This record gives sequence, C-alpha cells and structure tokens, in this order.
Amino acid sequence: MGDEDFLLDGRPHRILSGALHYFRVHPDQWADRIRKARLMGLNTIETYVAWNAHAPERGVFDTSGGLDLGRFLDLIAAEGMHAIVRPGPYICAEWTNGGLPAWLFQDPSVGVRSFEPQYLAAIEEYLQALAPILVPRQIDRGGPIVLVQIENEYGAYGDDARYLERLVELNRAIGLTVPFTTVDQPTAEMLEAGSIPGLHKTASFGSRSLERLATLRTHQPDGPLMCSEFWDGWFDHWGAHHHTTDVSQAAGELDDLLATGASVNLYMFHGGTNFGFTNGANDKGVFQPLVTSYDYDAPLDEAGNPTAKYWAMRDVIAQYAPVPEERPSAGSPAPRFEVELDRAAALFDVVESLGTFTAHDHPPTMDELGQYEGFILYRAEIDCVGPAVLEVDEVRDRAQVFFEGDGIGVLARTHHVHSLSLPRDARGTVDLLVEDQGRVNYGSRIGEPKGLIGAVRLCGEPLGRWRAAGLDVGRLDVVRRALRPVAPISGPSYRAGTFSLDESRDLFLDTSGWGKGVVWVNGFSLGRYWSAGPQRSLYVPAPVLRAGENEIIVLELNGVPHRPAVFTEGLELGHTEF
Ligand code: GLA
Repeated sequence: MGDEDFLLDGRPHRILSGALHYFRVHPDQWADRIRKARLMGLNTIETYVAWNAHAPERGVFDTSGGLDLGRFLDLIAAEGMHAIVRPGPYICAEWTNGGLPAWLFQDPSVGVRSFEPQYLAAIEEYLQALAPILVPRQIDRGGPIVLVQIENEYGAYGDDARYLERLVELNRAIGLTVPFTTVDQPTAEMLEAGSIPGLHKTASFGSRSLERLATLRTHQPDGPLMCSEFWDGWFDHWGAHHHTTDVSQAAGELDDLLATGASVNLYMFHGGTNFGFTNGANDKGVFQPLVTSYDYDAPLDEAGNPTAKYWAMRDVIAQYAPVPEERPSAGSPAPRFEVELDRAAALFDVVESLGTFTAHDHPPTMDELGQYEGFILYRAEIDCVGPAVLEVDEVRDRAQVFFEGDGIGVLARTHHVHSLSLPRDARGTVDLLVEDQGRVNYGSRIGEPKGLIGAVRLCGEPLGRWRAAGLDVGRLDVVRRALRPVAPISGPSYRAGTFSLDESRDLFLDTSGWGKGVVWVNGFSLGRYWSAGPQRSLYVPAPVLRAGENEIIVLELNGVPHRPAVFTEGLELGHTEF
C-alpha cells in the first residue's frame, strides 16, 4: 500500500473492479461475462465465496461445475485481470443465510458472527478447504488475487474485535499473504466497529460519493481510498416493485468517485440469477424474500447482455483508463413459442417418495429434520366438534393448509397470517406444506431455523402426534415415473412437456398466469416463480439447453388452470416504482 494508492510492483495502481458471483452464473458463461467486464474497461473481478453452496453438510466441500472457484479465478487470470475474493464467512449478498451454512446452527449454542469457539472451529475447516484454491492463486505467486476481504459490513452487525482478530489469524494461517480489507457503510460507528488495526478500511455506497469518501478518509487516514461496493442498482423483493437506477445519475456518481483517484468495485457488474433455492430474505419486522432474478439493474443484465448503463459506465471509465476498442454485441431477442405441458402428477401422490416421514410429538423444525431449504410436509389427524381454528405460533415461511386433501388456505409469514378456519366438525387429515422462502441474509435473524416454529393449536389445544418429512421436490426421477397424460388435478402438481430446439440458446420463460412454484429445464432448477411479482420471467441459460429435445417440468403449488409454458423474447422483471 502506498500513501494514497494501491501499489502493484511498486507502482501506483487503481483498482477498477466489477462484482460477479460465480455461484449466480452458469459456469459455461463465466468466460463471456469476465471478458465483457474487461471490455468495459475494468481490470479486476470481485466475487464472494458462498460457503453454504460449497458445504451442503459438514465435512463436504463441493467444487464441481458451478462451484469450481479455482476455474473461475483461472478464467479471470486468462483474461489478464485481477481478482478480489471475499470469503466471508458471512457475505450478505441477498444469498440464503448470508452464505452461512444452516447446519452450523442446528445447535443453538453455536455463535453467529462472534468469537465463539464452535463457530470459529467450523470457519477454520472452511478456510482450510479454501486454502488450496486461493493460496496458490495470489498475485505474489503469479495468480490473479490482489485483495481478500475479512467478514462483510461487520460494523452493521456487531463490534466483537476479538472475532475479527481471530478471522485475520485464521486467514493468515492458511497462507493468505495479500492485503486484507474490510467494508462498511460509511458512518463513523460502522467504520469503527467493522474493522481492526491492520485491516484496510473501505466503504459501500451508491451515491454522494465525495461525502462518503471524505467520511471514509477520517477513519482510514492513509493509503488508498476504495469503494468496495459501489451500488449501481438494487435487488427486488417478491410483492414489491422492480428497482432501477437512473443511468446518467449512476454514471455521474461513478465519475465523481473516479475523479478523486479512488478505487472501485461496481456492485454488481453482472448480478445473475438465484437459481434453485438460493435467494435470501430480509426481515426488519416484515419478512421480504428476494426474487429469483439478481439482475440488479447492473451494467450487464441477468442474461449477460450490455445495457445502457454498460455503455455509460464504459464512457466514464474511458476518461480515466484505457478501454479496449472492441465492443460486446447486444443480445438478440429469443424466439417466442409455446410448449404444451401434457403430462402431470399430483404432488401428494409422490410425497412418500420425495421424503421420509417420521413421527413427532410436536412439529419439528425443518432444520431438526436435517433439511435446510425447500419444502417440508407436516401431517396430523384431527377430530373436532364444532368450529375448528388452526393456529401456528410461527410459520417460516409459508404454509399451504389442506384438509382431507383439499386446499383450505395459506399461513404466510410475509403477511403475519398465523391462523385459519377449518370446516366445522373437522375430522380427518390436515397437511401443512411449508416452504422455506429463503433464509434471512442481513441482521439479527441470520441462522434462525425454518418450518413450523413453536406449537400448532387446534381450537386452542396444542396438536400432538405429527408425521413430518423434508421433501426433495427436485427428485425428478420420481416425478418422471409418476407423470401421466394430463387430467384435471386440484392442488400442487407437477406438469411436464418437451420441446425441440435447433440450437442451444438463451430462453426466457414467461410465468405470468401461473401461481407459485419452481421450474426445471433439463433437470436444472431455474428457481422460483410467483404471481406476487414483480418478475414475470425466468432466465434459461443457453448451456442448459441443447439442440434436439428438451424437457420442462413445473411444480405449480396453487394448481392454476391448465396453461402451456410460454417462452418469450426477453426478461420481464416487472413494474418499477415510477
Ligand atoms: C451490502 C452487502 C452486500 C449486499 C448489498 C446490497 O453492501 O455487503 O452483500 O447485500 O449490501 O445489495
């Protein structure tokens, strides 16, 4: 580090970085996105590491396919760029549980983001698994990694300096030698609580660059100024509007920032997609799960195509640094066509094959059943005289309630709905199909369990004797065996169809008209859709598709009227506020 600059081989060096999360982009598209970053004038790619994606259970560290972080870093190096790695362990990022594995908090005595031995022991295992990937790829060993960040906006959560010290020790112990940074929102309290001496403080913001850099300077009196997250867009919640930012304003803010000589990481350069069940959620009194698209209104859109913001930011960067002349081509509209979903299977017909039912005296949490995402089914027998009201202490996050197989209603955390009426003199089977809509990724609720929490009461009396099963709704082998030519089905069901393509190319599935559910194409989970919006499309990355026959399977939870799958020209991210 110099007095005012990063130094590279002893010479002042400005970092012009763009955030790109390998875990939100199909691995066959990494090289394309990285290249487009270089063509915008960036010299560095920044990524978080999503611990929970690599470690679905303790002792596992998956680096295959879309989790091959080493390959991602090698592609950055091959493009002649540098890399910034933010291994967390907490990453926020609108990613489920902020990247922390849910299995870690099975035992409530395990600390969260603090100096707590069990938590720290798990982090040590995690960093040891990362060591062979990161250590040899540092700049001083000929690799691309120039900086590593410790924790993430820790000043917004806690002030446990011992925890940060231990994290530094653990990161150094595995052999990381590059400079370490912290990032915090630019207030005096957060910048102080979120860092310790020896770590280089940086800030996160998306406007009022000069004022924020001045605040940062008072807390980081020497060395380079860096905005480690320059928010050039924003994320969306289900049931709210789609966020966009004004292009010329965003470019103007970037101009102000670069004019000071500061370094920057655009958050995001390319957001990508929360495939599968990977989206996070916020809960500051209202539970707000994140949508599937992580388009972020970033310079490259969800499908990797340059937007007006890309060109505006490229022009700004060109005033300060050399920008390659080559321009990435604009994406072309995808073909519009319909696919008949001509086979179907009722979810309730296959639940016994999607999970194993166990007996319980009280409703177990999803986590107690060793399941950390997706769906869980609770079943109880009831025998009521007179009016029957079902009441749950807490539902995380959404329970569809069925009596004798018929849908009765929904208990929804998003709307604080905890109770509903069953038919009078109800006698028979009650099912609660509970969806984890994404674990909270910011604030004090990180690490909380999912499923039914506390007691379930019927007419005021706790309901005992449950059968419960975590459902692996993505067991498509089971689903395929159960599919039959379509017949009217009420309630949650799988629908399937096939379609033929001349070539593999990006497609966009129009989900308007459907209720709520999940879609797989050729076995790849595109993520959730929901009529709550704002997004009305699911992105189908080209590498998932093939020339010839392709398969689509939809799990529709509401059992909406029969309707074909409609593929459309492009992204439909929904209404904006203005
Ligand atoms: C903070 C976090 C990021 C992300 C952004 C909002 O800056 O550090 O992980 O959550 O907010 O998109």
